[in-house]
Amino acid sequence: MALISIDAEKCKKDGICIRECPFNILRANEENIPEMIPGAEAVCLRCGHCLAVCPTGAVTFDGISPEACEPAADAGISVSAIARLVKNRRSVRVYKNKPVPRDIVEKMMDIVRWAPTAKNVQPVHWTLVDDREKIHKMAGMVIEWLRQNKVFPEIVAAWDGGEDIILRDAPLLAIAHTGADGLNPPADCAIAATTLELVASGLGIGGCWAGYFMRGANSFEPLKQYLNLPEGHRVYTALMLGYPKFKYHRIPPRQDAKLSWM
Ligand SMILES: Cc1cc2nc3c(=O)[nH]c(=O)nc-3n(C[C@H](O)[C@H](O)[C@H](O)COP(=O)(O)O)c2cc1C
Ligand code: SF4
Repeated sequence: MALISIDAEKCKKDGICIRECPFNILRANEENIPEMIPGAEAVCLRCGHCLAVCPTGAVTFDGISPEACEPAADAGISVSAIARLVKNRRSVRVYKNKPVPRDIVEKMMDIVRWAPTAKNVQPVHWTLVDDREKIHKMAGMVIEWLRQNKVFPEIVAAWDGGEDIILRDAPLLAIAHTGADGLNPPADCAIAATTLELVASGLGIGGCWAGYFMRGANSFEPLKQYLNLPEGHRVYTALMLGYPKFKYHRIPPRQDAKLSWM
């Protein structure tokens, strides 16, 4: 089946889909109806922009009709609401002793899958851990790795004193990993995690990047084995998540934007 099919009755021959296609793989045929350039299927990003942009719904892409798509909507969010979301996100490290319900986690993940990925490969996999014993065990493995490498002695000492600075006793850990299919896994996973952190923040759930864990997860063999990721996968980001124990009453200042125009 052709990747793209056009309903000639609906097509207004406006050329919008041809102009929109990021790789110029659509062209007008003799009747001025768009078609994919023969052999271009391999180049197609499957981004669905041709399907999304057609004003009359004439494009069916990869068997998906315009009617099968969720209608696009003006985001309808004011600048102040966007600023509120971005500025009120904090790296939350102290959590209530309360699990994040799995249905809420799955709702967040269902939004996050729209985060952009290089060439639309969508390579990001998530391993979700909401068993605190497992989270604590993995934090302990990272500590063991630090101990063996004689780095961050203050973090190891805190652990020995009963404080987990690695995963902060978080009720939920979301680990983003990809295999060899990704074109830019660090960026794709970072964007996905950032999107998740913002979505979570909007729902009153605090997140914090787990940097020590991210490094240990690819370096410390016992932790790699415990994670048991699919063959060839690497961890690129990990987020601790949970309901914040404390409320923030003000937004801490940040540096001015460092801008230069050229
Ligand atoms: C790390 C990264 C690099 C990208 N590089 C390019 C690029 O060089 N040129 C381009 O046209 N699009 C680029 N994109 C955009 C992706 O192709 C796009 O996000 C993807 O096709 C999904 O489409 P959407 O963002 O409209 O959902 C990039 C996206 C990411 C995340
Ligand atoms: S899915 Fe994207 S890349 Fe493929 S034909 Fe449509 S617009 Fe072009």
